[in-house]
Amino acid sequence: MAAKKKTKPNNKKPGRNQWADHLTQRAKKENYPARSVYKLEEIQNKFQVLKKNDLVLDLGCAPGSWLLYAAKQVGNHGKVFGIDLKKIEIRLPENVIAIEDDILNFTNESFLGEKTRFNSIISDMAPATSGRKDVDALRSFELCNMALKVADDFLFQNGNFVCKIFQGNDFNAFQKNVKLKFKESKIFKPESCRKQSKEIYIIAKGKK
Ligand SMILES: C[S@@+](CC[C@H](N)C(=O)[O-])C[C@H]1O[C@@H](n2cnc3c(N)ncnc32)[C@H](O)[C@@H]1O
Repeated sequence: MAAKKKTKPNNKKPGRNQWADHLTQRAKKENYPARSVYKLEEIQNKFQVLKKNDLVLDLGCAPGSWLLYAAKQVGNHGKVFGIDLKKIEIRLPENVIAIEDDILNFTNESFLGEKTRFNSIISDMAPATSGRKDVDALRSFELCNMALKVADDFLFQNGNFVCKIFQGNDFNAFQKNVKLKFKESKIFKPESCRKQSKEIYIIAKGKK
């Protein structure tokens, strides 16, 4: 009897890739350089972290989707500042300034020497992935701690903080640190995150 031909397991879970493709297409159509914009949109719709006239700092801002979205939310009398290791290649609106630097070097004079404080600090920073989940989670934790330090130093009182973190061993410790500095904090996984991804956002409001 001829051996039965083995069928390959179907690793492509239906729906997931189509959803990612749909968001990528939508971002292209709406002139955003990355689909991550829809994560911030979901966060904003649920938690209203950005307000008209706000000063916002975007940590890990390249390629620039969050900058564009935040610029619309704060309007012409607000301002959005961004920092990333990578250069921003897109044209930015007048109320946005972005610099190419490591957030390790961030000071409140990083932007044209202006002493600035912020109403909201938003971080979508992610480390270059190593392929090892434990290593990536640890690097993400380090970036989050840096972001929290920047938020602690440069937010106005009552300011808001949004921070992406990869769920790993240090997640609870980070959440605890955030709770010490803010009146309220929530965990949120936007629908537009890939389901299999370990990324999650901490939304903290009311800097103490
Ligand atoms: C997922 S992307 C951000 C996407 C962005 N929110 C958008 O919508 O266009 C993560 C970014 O974090 C940046 N990043 C990672 N480590 C950083 C660091 N130490 N300082 C500044 N930026 C960093 C990376 O260069 C990368 O561009």
